[in-house]
Amino acid sequence: MATPESDELLDKVTNLAKRRGFIFPSAEIYGGFRSTYDYGPLGVNMLRNVKQAWWTAMVQMRDDVVGLDAAILGPPAVWAASGHLETFTDPLVDCKKCRERWREDKIDGVCPNCGSTEFTEARAFNLMFKTQAGPVEGEGATAYLRPETAQGMFTNFANVLSTTRRKPPFGIAQIGKSFRNEITPQNFVFRTREFEQMEMEFFVPPAEADAWYRYWIDTRYAWYRGLGIPEDRLRLHEHAKEDLSHYSRGTTDVEFLYPWGWDELEGIANRGDYDLTQHSNASGVRLEYFDQSTNEHYIPYVIEPAAGATRAMMAFLLAAYDEDVIEGDTRVVLRLDPRLAPYQVAVLPLSKKPELDVLSREVLALLRPSYMCDYDVTQSIGRRYRRQDEVGTPLCVTVDFDSLEDRAVTIRDRDTTAQERVPLDGLLDAVRARLTR
Ligand code: GAP
Repeated sequence: MATPESDELLDKVTNLAKRRGFIFPSAEIYGGFRSTYDYGPLGVNMLRNVKQAWWTAMVQMRDDVVGLDAAILGPPAVWAASGHLETFTDPLVDCKKCRERWREDKIDGVCPNCGSTEFTEARAFNLMFKTQAGPVEGEGATAYLRPETAQGMFTNFANVLSTTRRKPPFGIAQIGKSFRNEITPQNFVFRTREFEQMEMEFFVPPAEADAWYRYWIDTRYAWYRGLGIPEDRLRLHEHAKEDLSHYSRGTTDVEFLYPWGWDELEGIANRGDYDLTQHSNASGVRLEYFDQSTNEHYIPYVIEPAAGATRAMMAFLLAAYDEDVIEGDTRVVLRLDPRLAPYQVAVLPLSKKPELDVLSREVLALLRPSYMCDYDVTQSIGRRYRRQDEVGTPLCVTVDFDSLEDRAVTIRDRDTTAQERVPLDGLLDAVRARLTR
């Protein structure tokens, strides 16, 4: 079995992701397009589940957070005020020997391509993708693809405040695509140029900022633990003052033990009143809260838990990958939390006989309104179990010839491989009980 810190694990998960339809390199028939990926039939299910798990925890289960879905394209004014036009840069160097370009802080002074140690002076490279909106060229038509979803929450602060009658502490949450022209995208979907973020801006009275900062660090750490990432592969890392982003008064990362070592999974930042102040000054619209109890206007501080959906999916895949030996055979099993697995249930008729197909479809009709189900009739039942184990399906429901007589089916558990016979009229409850324990 590959250890958590090994290239072998990364290779195994990357291969499985491609072979089983989780993640494909983008535009592969044209030789690929570096660092972009497409999510296949199983990947799209899993990515949706990751985002749904986040939305459930961050919005649905809370009465102090509301949702938003803001535009990806934005005018330069937003990015000037946010500080991104000036400071959202990485240090770019060219290798003098092979001419490859690198992010200076990621290469320890040695060109990963040719081993040379001679580079040009580092220059600030802005990571935002710039484009033209509309058919007329010129400064007025310049637009940027957002490099973070956060700014949409700040520019809509007054809209949300007035339409929802919220008062601090409250949050605005958003899931969506962000784009960064990363100099060295790497490690599968860990760092890509197009990715999905799950961010929440939590607006608080300034005096409560420290307490909420601690609260969100603990809450976000617990979210990953609750979805199955083991304790020894998660840790918190507080940034040193000199490493903080331009907006941050304090940042703590939830880190995951990736095959290449500890690295960021999510960042929780205390952004102070930086963003609302910047946008108030630049737009002329006062982005503040009027507290009727004290008769005071104030600019709330912002605590921001900022996660990557695609990066989290990768961490969940890496943490779930396992190999064990069943009846003398090594099997690959993804021990995914049922909430994240691409399919919760696979329905497997023992043979292709039409009578079994009819009953199996009855089983599917019973389960599909509640669960994502796969239906597989090809090859031996043993092989089909292995195929479901490999993609993390927690339960298989097998329909056999006895089922036609006794209207009962067999539930087989991914992790223990234990099997149990269950009457059809109690199947939905039996499945629910097993998926939620
Ligand atoms: N609004 C704050 C912000 O965007 P960030 O640390 O730059 O903070 C937040 O990004 C999260 O977004 C990261 O922790 C990571 O999970 C994800 N992320 C950032 N850049 C990424 C990239 N190039 N590819 C994939 N995920 C990325």
